[in-house]
Amino acid sequence: MRLLIAGWHGLVARALIEAAPSRQEIKALAAGRPALDVRDPRSIERAFGDLSPDMVINSAAYTAVDKAEHDQEAVFALNREGAALLARAAARRNIPVIHLSTHYVFDGEKPTAYEEDDTPSPATVYGRSKYEGECAVADANPRHVIIRTGWVFSTAANGFAARMLAQAQSGKPLRVVADQRGNPTYAPHLAAAILDIACRLAANPPEAGPWGTYHAAGTGETTWHGLASELLARAPRTGAAPNLEAIASSEYPALAPRPVNAALKCDKFERTFALRLPPWQYGVTECVKAVGSP
Ligand SMILES: NC(=O)c1ccc[n+]([C@@H]2O[C@H](COP(=O)([O-])OP(=O)(O)OC[C@H]3O[C@@H](n4cnc5c(N)ncnc54)[C@H](OP(=O)(O)O)[C@@H]3O)[C@@H](O)[C@H]2O)c1
Repeated sequence: MRLLIAGWHGLVARALIEAAPSRQEIKALAAGRPALDVRDPRSIERAFGDLSPDMVINSAAYTAVDKAEHDQEAVFALNREGAALLARAAARRNIPVIHLSTHYVFDGEKPTAYEEDDTPSPATVYGRSKYEGECAVADANPRHVIIRTGWVFSTAANGFAARMLAQAQSGKPLRVVADQRGNPTYAPHLAAAILDIACRLAANPPEAGPWGTYHAAGTGETTWHGLASELLARAPRTGAAPNLEAIASSEYPALAPRPVNAALKCDKFERTFALRLPPWQYGVTECVKAVGSP
């Protein structure tokens, strides 16, 4: 299967590209700007013509949640229109699309984990653009799998894990929000699940599906403070114990409101694909090992 991964420099895309060589059935074809600009139909046509994919994963997105509040036009151009263009180009060739989305389609006010059937209620420009993107993808291509995930972390140098570990090593106190909860999702775990789904879809008869929207995130819930605490506990310590302080969201003001509850219930994903992402703590252990000692 020739699998086009759109948005090649992104966090999730990089995890997909790294994981793909372990799958014999998959030939990963990564593309992104400037070669593939998903806002530009001609660029998409060229990429499809050059790469002849059998399936597409759309990992390209405008993900700067705060910046999005004042950049509405650009956000929607990519997260809604661009997503639809890519899905439509795939539909014209009868190619399925796996589209990445987010818990930000919900406002976070629900007391329990969000299910796929819960009515979206985005409270941010980013969340609205992603929800409208989901709808546009579903309209554009009946052969779609939309995967909502959240709190993706990896070994990336500028990512949450590396920043926490570096700051702990520097001896500076860490003040981390402890009143928002979600499912930390280790990028390689998410990538492995997405590639499993791609293989499953490729093995099914063309119209079999199962098409639709799914929640897929690391198993278990915690807060950002809980995630930081686990990262520091797993990291080999050379000096004094890190100074990790739990703070309220109000002490870390952001332009776009962060959902208090970002937790996603993944039962439908587990039932449908017989897949469950590992507990988030396993991801932390793997991540710390890969990043090395702080
Ligand atoms: N990271 C998370 O915690 C998280 C959580 C929930 C859901 N998600 C979803 O997962 C998906 C991937 O997120 P991510 O964290 O990997 O995002 P990311 O690291 O911000 O990467 C997004 C990628 O999109 C590319 N891009 C931007 N404009 C483009 C365009 N016009 N054409 C083609 N590519 C373009 C960017 O490439 P350039 O280098 O060219 O800018 C960048 O590489 C998104 O749909 C996001 O909503 C992520």
